[in-house]
Amino acid sequence: MKVFIVGIAGGVGLRLARLLTADGDRVDGLHRRPEQGERLAAEGIHATHGDLTRIDAPALAALLRGTDVLVFAAGAGGEGGTSAITAIDGHGLSTAIEAARLAGVRRLLLVSAFPEAWRDREVSDTFEHYIDTKKRADAELAATELDWVILRPAALTDDPGTGRISLAPALVHTRITRDDVAATLAELVHTPRLRREILELTEGPTPITDAVQQRTRD
Ligand SMILES: NC(=O)c1ccc[n+]([C@@H]2O[C@H](COP(=O)([O-])OP(=O)(O)OC[C@H]3O[C@@H](n4cnc5c(N)ncnc54)[C@H](OP(=O)(O)O)[C@@H]3O)[C@@H](O)[C@H]2O)c1
Repeated sequence: MKVFIVGIAGGVGLRLARLLTADGDRVDGLHRRPEQGERLAAEGIHATHGDLTRIDAPALAALLRGTDVLVFAAGAGGEGGTSAITAIDGHGLSTAIEAARLAGVRRLLLVSAFPEAWRDREVSDTFEHYIDTKKRADAELAATELDWVILRPAALTDDPGTGRISLAPALVHTRITRDDVAATLAELVHTPRLRREILELTEGPTPITDAVQQRTRD
């Protein structure tokens, strides 16, 4: 299977690239900083240097030729304020959707966020804009004809993965390791019959394979 990861050098993207490469999938992706390409190559991961805010859909589509699954794991990550959030988490996804259509890629997995994340806190206007942009991106993707899956992880941590999760259409917002998010995405990549679902993801008791397979039966 050929998988293209937008945001391949990010916390989730790189973990996913490693897992898929170890599984024998062909992995490619887009990374923003030139030096990231050397680090990826040192791990045997091929990727293309490019800025999601500058690349247009036809140029991204050209990189997607032969791709079976497109994973969108990019995000502004708190840098650049509201305009960066709009450009990357918002318009960046629009570009990816259009590129998928042009390249004939049917399956798109989006790393999104809980709409009610941190509702128990006093959050900044920038964070509100982030949540609003993520929800609009979910809505845009869900309205397409693609075989999308929208994955909404809870608060991300760099703790070692547990291999166990909760995965369901509605969960209480807690936390989840980036390792376990990546492992869940890898399972979703290999489970094409799970499609057109919005799934929330937190730490939990269920082995990842079982949790994903359960979603195909409900
Ligand atoms: N943090 C949380 O608690 C949380 C919770 C739920 C969901 N999420 C979402 O989960 C996703 C992945 O999280 P993460 O921890 O993996 O984030 P991350 O480490 O910040 O990775 C995001 C990647 O996107 C890349 N990117 C940003 N702008 C780009 C551009 N213009 N062109 C190309 N690539 C660009 C970044 O490049 P650089 O390496 O150059 O910065 C980075 O590698 C994010 O979209 C985030 O919104 C986060």
